[in-house]
Amino acid sequence: MKVCVVGTGYVGLTTGASLAFLGHEVTCLDLDHAKIEMLRRGRSPIYEPFLEDLLAEAGDRLRFTADYTEGVGGADVVFIAVQTPSLPDGSPDLRFLRKAAASVGQSVDGAFTVVVNKSTVPIGSGNWVDAILRESFEELHGRRADGEFAVASNPEFLREGSAIHDTLYPDRIVIGSDDPRSLEVLNRLYRPILDQSFTPPSFLARPDGVGAVALVATDLASAELIKYAANAFLALKISYINEIGRLAGKVGADIIQVARGTGLDARIGSRFLQPGVGWGGSCFGKDTAALIATAEEYHHDMPIVRAAREVNERQREAVVDKLLDELQIIKGRKIGLLGLAFKPQTDDLRDAPAIHIAERLIARGARVKLHDPVAAERFRTEQPELAPFLADTVDEVFDDSDAVVLVTEWSQYLELDWAKFVGLMRTPVLLDGRHALDPARLTQLGYRYLSMAGRSTPPAS
Ligand SMILES: NC(=O)c1ccc[n+]([C@@H]2O[C@H](COP(=O)([O-])OP(=O)(O)OC[C@H]3O[C@@H](n4cnc5c(N)ncnc54)[C@H](O)[C@@H]3O)[C@@H](O)[C@H]2O)c1
Repeated sequence: MKVCVVGTGYVGLTTGASLAFLGHEVTCLDLDHAKIEMLRRGRSPIYEPFLEDLLAEAGDRLRFTADYTEGVGGADVVFIAVQTPSLPDGSPDLRFLRKAAASVGQSVDGAFTVVVNKSTVPIGSGNWVDAILRESFEELHGRRADGEFAVASNPEFLREGSAIHDTLYPDRIVIGSDDPRSLEVLNRLYRPILDQSFTPPSFLARPDGVGAVALVATDLASAELIKYAANAFLALKISYINEIGRLAGKVGADIIQVARGTGLDARIGSRFLQPGVGWGGSCFGKDTAALIATAEEYHHDMPIVRAAREVNERQREAVVDKLLDELQIIKGRKIGLLGLAFKPQTDDLRDAPAIHIAERLIARGARVKLHDPVAAERFRTEQPELAPFLADTVDEVFDDSDAVVLVTEWSQYLELDWAKFVGLMRTPVLLDGRHALDPARLTQLGYRYLSMAGRSTPPAS
């Protein structure tokens, strides 16, 4: 099938490359000319494992353009995967989506096209996009659209860092439309994934036990709500274990054992029960805020989702509080942060806990040193005020420091020569913000080991 993907970010590029790998003819479209140029040279503008391999495998089936007529003309399916960041009141900023939809509406050329919202958008956006498409089509053609397109929702559930894996081997695919033709087209498009009938790429084998993928085909509003309901629940799980972790710290319980013993209950599940500095990234914060904002429009309160957000905010504060308790005076102290990306295996810095922690420490007069093995360059451009605090090496972070905080559990950090670094510190305070290190070993090496939730056994390797 012929596909156009509007927006070549984490979601759009992964979708486009994966669909081309599966045999579809795909054009990825972005208004950012620098990105398009880079992609044409086979280079990915973002750090995502296996993405460049997949771009190479997709070969000629994958093209890049900044021109809507070229991208959208003749496409059976147009995905819109532009950003939907939060506005100050928590509701999503839909300007990018509006602009993209208007451009698509002016570029569909008569054959039936399914326009798919892949961006995470508030409930009701499908109808809104449909209206924009119609308006811009009418403006250009001087007549009403009559069956040229239909709108569908196909929310994205990929995790950055394992985006290709999650796209080729998903837990489920959700498609929603009020037009049965769209569901039929998307069903065909995703058939190789649904049946798992494709030959896996050499670099990403099909995991054992992956069989046919569940398809949830529903109406527009339900598909849109599924995305928010899923993200809010995952955010809630993390906040829940962090709330339990705070109590565990007080009563002297071992949070890793508590999480394990809780998560082994099949009704609960062990994933997203890792205690730490809390969630970050482009989705959980903005999507929980958007869910609350949507509910407010219906005079509906969402106390559980609000609580999940509050607990998450508190976790970031807790890092500073713990350092304050330990060091007593923060002003003038040198504090190093290991890890800036919101999680390992990505260079995404949106709503990264490290940024907030660094800002709070600086506001209290600390001298901070920041390090990330992958996201440092992006950090330099996206966070110019904090860029002067970047360290080139891990040695610089530890050298003469009063405390170091592990914020992102990159494998590079887990494998550091911890015996060497303790000797570089002025006071060897180490706050393990992810419960990812071995407390007994570090204590033995001479560190004053602190964690977010008190006592914890070494993580299972
Ligand atoms: N990143 C994730 O892990 C993730 C996961 C699931 C869902 N989502 C959702 O998917 C959407 C996209 O997220 P992302 O992280 O890929 O965003 P992103 O910021 O990485 O990428 C968006 C891209 O869209 C381009 N763009 C903006 N307006 C455009 C226009 N009018 N025409 C063409 N291109 C345009 C931008 O230049 C950018 O390259 C968001 O709604 C997000 O909430 C993201």
